[in-house]
Order: sequence, then structure tokens, then C-alpha cells
Amino acid sequence: MSQRLKLEIKPLNAIGGQDLVILMSDTLSPPKAADDWLGEGAHALLARAAAAERFKGKALSGLTLLAPDGAGYERLIAVGVGPEDERGTLDFAKLGGAIAGRLGHGRSADVIMALPEGPLGAEHAAAIALGMRLRSYVFDEYKTKSKKPEEAEPIAVTLRLPEPLGKKAFKAVEAIADGVDLARTLVNEPPNVLYPEEFADRAAKLAKLGVEIEILDEKQLKKIGMRALLAVGQGSRRDSRVAIMRWDGAKAGVQPIAFVGKGVTFDTGGISLKPGAGMEDMKGDMAGAACVVGLMHALAARKAKVNAIGIIGLVENMPDGNAQRPGDIVTSLSGQTIEIINTDAEGRLVLADVLWYTQERFKPQFMINLATLTGAILVALAQEHAGLFSNSDELSERLAAAGKATGETVWRMPLGKAYDKMIDSKFADMKNAAGRHGGSITAAQFLQRHVNDTPWVHLDIAGTGMGSPNSETNRSWGSGWGVRLLDRLVADHYEG
Ligand code: BES
Ligand code: MN
Ligand code: ZN
Repeated sequence: MSQRLKLEIKPLNAIGGQDLVILMSDTLSPPKAADDWLGEGAHALLARAAAAERFKGKALSGLTLLAPDGAGYERLIAVGVGPEDERGTLDFAKLGGAIAGRLGHGRSADVIMALPEGPLGAEHAAAIALGMRLRSYVFDEYKTKSKKPEEAEPIAVTLRLPEPLGKKAFKAVEAIADGVDLARTLVNEPPNVLYPEEFADRAAKLAKLGVEIEILDEKQLKKIGMRALLAVGQGSRRDSRVAIMRWDGAKAGVQPIAFVGKGVTFDTGGISLKPGAGMEDMKGDMAGAACVVGLMHALAARKAKVNAIGIIGLVENMPDGNAQRPGDIVTSLSGQTIEIINTDAEGRLVLADVLWYTQERFKPQFMINLATLTGAILVALAQEHAGLFSNSDELSERLAAAGKATGETVWRMPLGKAYDKMIDSKFADMKNAAGRHGGSITAAQFLQRHVNDTPWVHLDIAGTGMGSPNSETNRSWGSGWGVRLLDRLVADHYEG
């Protein structure tokens, strides 16, 4: 992983970067705060360049010009924020992404953090900073040839704030951005490198932030009775793991909240083997677990005042002489029996045990699980929303609001008796796969049979967690989806 930006925050006293970035609206007049730094002739030059390029200050559009002689900087970059009366709907994180995108292969830049019509609120400044960081993530770990020296050096960006932004707000931005970067890298890593044990080791690195770590190996999992989870991993040469991360940022005794992730480090489908085309994408079948690790990083790094548990089930789903078969019946930790119809419906088996374990051991206020659970969620929602399934209206509404605020949007899907019946089995308490119809819903019903009465949300992120189309804030295959959403949920409702 690498970050192409090194961000710093400084007051607007003296600038010295190679590029000068300003925000411009449809009035095409630079912010007052920039006046002292633009230099002689810059206004006229800007007007000519804008006319020549038909730059109208449209939100997220940009204009790059060479600085006038002796200006003290090399390039002047204007980024559009649209007309003032549409400012309320401007996504400032996307704006930050657009700014970072404009920096290209620059070396250093000063961004004047002021709107054409006046100061920029602290929250908007933070969103811009976050957007810049998110846009600048690149995964080039395994590119040995194409790394040019100018791309290896991060761009030193100084955000010039006429109004001070609290150190704490900026620390939170860095914490969240680092959490998203981490989640993206875990998703992007190849499956020969990132197998369950290695994944657990990466999660264990959160110890340096004060996160308490507990790794359960196969012997312990067997003893606990996580047979459904172990059944998925039994065809793999790699051992399964469950990793537990605990951040205690609130007073002792405050009931924790819990985040649970599906971490299938590679999903071949098992004996119900997937077709070959596109199977390489199944290295991302641990995006739920990656999000949980990224979130725990963010919470700990910004010292969130919350008691939070992150718990991830890590397995590799492989076909083998020892692999589970369609027709097998396994007993999950909850004591319920499951008939395996399709070994490719493995995520729910992993989550069934981890969810049951979580509610029983930690008695959390709620559990939110994230999983690349079904292809069917892509049929229903494409890559625009994650599917949300829940037994709690309050949690669902809070997540919907956090989704709108961060752009990581969710769409609530139904649960109910009739759907639940569809996973009844002829031979066991339930089966792990029903027909094609309502595939995402029956998967969610399966999970619900393992959450008891705990308030619970299942987010199906098969569409949003990987292979997302490029956006202003993301150019990475592994999107890190969910870190911002859940950090926001915590910040808005569960701290202090
Ligand atoms: N990991 C897949 C779901 C998936 C599909 C994630 C596409 C990301 C992109 C999951 O384990 C799976 O194979 N689900 C099956 C369930 C079926 C066998 C009941 C599916 O969606 O086809
Ligand atoms: Mn599968
Ligand atoms: Zn899977």
C-alpha cells in the first residue's frame, strides 16, 4: 500500500509549495483569502484560462494553469465548487478527491481552504482532507517495473486554513483514512499472501494502538464448538482462525457494541466449485472482515469513547479430499443442525458460529455483521447500495442516515416468516442454500437464526466491497467500504 499524499495543516501565513490550489464558484472570482498569495496578474490569467477552457466553476471540475512569472509557485489549480445556492448539497469529500486528482505527479502543494464567498466550516475542511486522502491510496505493492521515481515520493500537501481546524478533528481524519487504507489493502492483497493465519496476524497489529487482541486457533475453535466455521475450512491446507479485537474507549462496564466480519480469504466454492471466469475476484471474499479491522483501527486511532468488539471468522474455502460435501450435516455452535446443500454458500456458515459466539460471550448492545455474502445482492442493488437486513428499526434508520452522510449508502431489504421457511431442510434444522429466488434474503434469514434476540444488522457488501467503479474518492479495487459508514454511526450515537 502507499499513500501518495502527506497531509499537513498550517495557518495561512506563508506558502511555499509547487502548486497553489484554490476553490472557485460560478462567479469565477478567487477566494479573498487567496488574494495575498496569487500574485500580480493571476486574476487576469485565470479569467483568460477559464474562458479558453470554458471553465465555469462547476462542482468538481478543474482548471490548471502555469503561474505568472515570479508568483512564487509553479501551477495554479482551481477546483470548482459550483454556485453558492447549491453549496448545501456539495459533497466535500468528493471535492477533496477532485483536488487530489488534479495534483497529478506534483511534488508539493498549498491548498487554500476557503470558499469564494467566505470561510469554510471545520466539518467541511475535515471532509475535504479525508477525500484527498481517500483518493490518494494506491496499491502498488507488487508492481516492480512501473514505479517511476516521481510516483514513489508522496506529494507534500499543506492545507492552509485561515480558520484553525482543531488538531483533534484532523487526527480523526487521519485515523479514518488510515482505517480505510488498511481495509482496502487487506482486500487487494493476493490470496496466496493473505490466508487466514496471515490475516489474523495483520489484525493483531492493532495492538500497537491499544486494541486488545485474541486469536483463536483450530484447536480452540473445536473446543468451543464452531463446527460450521471449521467445516468450511476443512478442505484447505490453511488453518482457520477467529480474531477478536477489543477497543475499550468508554468506561468499564459500558455494554460493548460488536462488529462481525466474514473473512473467507479465498472462495473457490469448495466441492460446489465456482466457474473459472472471474474466480480471482474471490480473493475479496474477506471484505467484511477487512472493514471490521479498518474500523477498529479508526476507532482506536482516534480514541473513540466507545467499547467496541471486532470479531472476524477467517477461513479458506477449497475443494479437497477432506472438504465438506453437499449432503453433509453439521451442528453449529448454537446447537442447530445444518444440511449443506451447496458448499459455495459458506459465508453464512462462518457467520452463524461467530454471531452466536459474539452474542453469547459479549452480550453486546447490538451486532452489525458485514459480508460479501451473495451474488444476488448485485442483481438487486448493483453496486450503489449495500443490502441491509435487520431486526431493529432504530439501528436500520441510524445506518441509513450515516450512509447518506458518508456516501456509503444502504438499502433495507425484507425479512419474514415466509422467507424463513424457505431454508427449512428435509433432514436437518435448516439448509444452507435455498433456490435462486430471493437469494440474498434467504441468506439473511439463515444468519438471523443465529443472532438470538440481539439487535442485529446484516450488511451484504458483495456489490460494494470490491470492484467498485472509480469515483472521486476511490481508485482502488478493494473499496474499504463500510469503515466510514460505521465510524460515523459510532460517532453520531454511541460515544460519550
Ligand atoms: N462469496 C460469494 C458471494 C459473492 C458473489 C461475493 C459475487 C462477491 C461477488 C458467496 O460465498 C457465494 O458463493 N454465494 C452464493 C450462494 C449460493 C450458492 C446460495 C451465490 O451468491 O451464488
Ligand atoms: Mn461462496
Ligand atoms: Zn463467499
